[in-house]
Amino acid sequence: VRYWAVVPAAGVGRRMNVDIPKQYLEIKGKPLIEHTLGRLLDFPHLERIVVVLDREDEYHQSIELMRNARIQLAEGGDERYHSVLSGLRVLLDMADPNDWVLVHDVARPCIRRSDLDWLVNQLHEHPVGGLLGSPVTDTIKKAGSDDVVSETVDRQGLWHAMTPQMFRLGMLHDAMAKAIADKMPVTDEASAIEYSGKQPVMVEGHADNIKVTRGTDLALASLYIEQQSKLIEV
Ligand code: CTP
Ligand code: MG
Repeated sequence: VRYWAVVPAAGVGRRMNVDIPKQYLEIKGKPLIEHTLGRLLDFPHLERIVVVLDREDEYHQSIELMRNARIQLAEGGDERYHSVLSGLRVLLDMADPNDWVLVHDVARPCIRRSDLDWLVNQLHEHPVGGLLGSPVTDTIKKAGSDDVVSETVDRQGLWHAMTPQMFRLGMLHDAMAKAIADKMPVTDEASAIEYSGKQPVMVEGHADNIKVTRGTDLALASLYIEQQSKLIEV
């Protein structure tokens, strides 16, 4: 079996509150998207990386890395799951349904090589697949619409879901198509797999694999990337 990737990058980054899509904001003098794609391109197992862009994206032309021979483009949709499905469709034309696909948010530029290795190492013989995550460390409260606490949730067994999420290509495509047809709002690939009745595996990764979502995350990502560059093995 071979390994492929889909990188959903068709979002606008509304919560960032700036006038360009967040994936084109600079971190340490380089657009965020270049950090993410650079790390995936350095991972030798990936045959091709399908980058899913908004139809009206006018920024990608200026990104040097986008012309890499292992990068292919696809057109995104209104929701993240539409964008991912569009990328999976492109892959189905060239890959085997039993091949692995790693879906990774463009907004996670701090993904470590060691976590990519660990994910593949843990899942390559699994029939379904799974995802990187990190165990919840905060105390979790449940509150009603009045913000009054009704319960402290036992955090035993709770995880933050991250990406990459690695599944068998055909299985993921069918699960996502079905979830979308049934109007299930699947916010990640694993939820589509779960909806199809299968059980994804959690693989523990480093908590610095953050999703750049709000303004303060940009500074944090920059700090993590700086720190990682000082480690011998990231
Ligand atoms: N994404 C996508 N297509 C969409 C929406 C999101 O490909 N229609 C991608 C984003 O580019 C991002 C990832 O999905 O890499 C995770 O989404 P999120 O962090 O929510 O990014 P945005 O949707 O861009 O941000 P916001 O929700 O704040 O607008
Ligand atoms: Mg979004």
